[in-house]
Amino acid sequence: MTGAAVDVGIVGGGLMGRELAAAIGRWAALEDHPVRPRLAAVCDTDPQVLSWFDRIDTVRLRTADYSELLADDGLDVLYLAVPHHLHERLYLDAVAAGKDFLGEKPFGIDLPAARRIVAAIEAREGLFVRCSSEMPYFPGAQLAYSDVRSGAVGPVIEARSSFLHSSDLDVRKRINWKRQSRFCGRAGVMADLGMHVLHVPLRLGWCPSSVYAVLQNLVPERPDASGALVPCDTIDNATLHCAVGAGGGFPLTLETKRIAPGEMNTWQLRALGMDGGVEFSTAAPKTVRRFRVRGGRQVWETLEVGSQSAFRTVTGGIFEFGFSDAILQMWAAFLAERAGALAGAFGCVTPREALTSHEVFDAALRSAETGRAEAV
Ligand SMILES: NC(=O)c1ccc[n+]([C@@H]2O[C@H](COP(=O)([O-])OP(=O)(O)OC[C@H]3O[C@@H](n4cnc5c(N)ncnc54)[C@H](O)[C@@H]3O)[C@@H](O)[C@H]2O)c1
Repeated sequence: MTGAAVDVGIVGGGLMGRELAAAIGRWAALEDHPVRPRLAAVCDTDPQVLSWFDRIDTVRLRTADYSELLADDGLDVLYLAVPHHLHERLYLDAVAAGKDFLGEKPFGIDLPAARRIVAAIEAREGLFVRCSSEMPYFPGAQLAYSDVRSGAVGPVIEARSSFLHSSDLDVRKRINWKRQSRFCGRAGVMADLGMHVLHVPLRLGWCPSSVYAVLQNLVPERPDASGALVPCDTIDNATLHCAVGAGGGFPLTLETKRIAPGEMNTWQLRALGMDGGVEFSTAAPKTVRRFRVRGGRQVWETLEVGSQSAFRTVTGGIFEFGFSDAILQMWAAFLAERAGALAGAFGCVTPREALTSHEVFDAALRSAETGRAEAV
């Protein structure tokens, strides 16, 4: 494999830390990528989590203290994937240490934390930082994005961007940090899934000017490890009715749900315009639906999209694409952009976009209190 070598360190080797380790293991699937990452260090406070990384030969440092990674001059890039209440301290420390990083969303537990993180990043010249959001790298999402961006749908009438889970339908599911606002944030499900539904809209210039929010805490208690019921005080489902642009603008509906019966990890985008429309859902990852008027007839057509995304891979063009492919593509974009070689491909979420997502969540929380639409 060619490409410049980049040593990567992970802080937080849980669900997402392991996804990155697996993506680096499959890096050879990328054709002609300008960077060759190697997983060199892992930090996690849980020894069992750390021991999972024994299977990766290139890891030379395992520690429970992230300051060892920050002080390690041999590490070029960090992936920060810890619970939300730890984002601010860790991200600020990484900035102070001059480390480039991909930080997990939501980029701070709330709006003030996100403001401090983004201000520190912007004050530190030359630092390359992005926020995680992989679902737009599904080939169907890329096609839908390009279709809208090219102007093919014409002036937008309305749009919807959704991320829908159903894991919390089981009310006996044990509580975890994501279901407690002191660790997850008051924004609840928006903190978990909101960046995913805003990445493409923000890239299309669809920044909400106001939000009317319907927020639901559908399961207010869950069992802890002992089986005792404890408060589960986070928002489970959030439906945000947003206005994009003044006057001649359009409605953008943002849905983030932990309890959407029938959906597992369904990311959807739909846009309708005066000249056409497009919709993509990861529930049908092989296809994109496109609307056009032809010969006076209204036509919804189905396009097969295959496996190829922003960065070319060895995978056969007709094969299917999945979550782990999206993670690989997001990291390909992050490392290519850091190397100055994005070459027009779809880039990862910028710190400013992560901050904007918090501004939208904050307006949604205010709207739920006032019962009115609130300015972003
Ligand atoms: N991009 C995505 O699709 C996606 C999916 C899930 C979660 N996330 C985000 O990733 C982040 C982590 O979520 P997760 O699901 O991987 O959580 P997780 O609980 O599976 O993993 C977090 C890890 O951080 C470790 N940790 C806690 N405190 C630490 C510290 N001080 N130093 C080092 N390690 C510490 C924990 O031991 C745990 O192993 C969150 O910001 C979450 O929103 C993103």
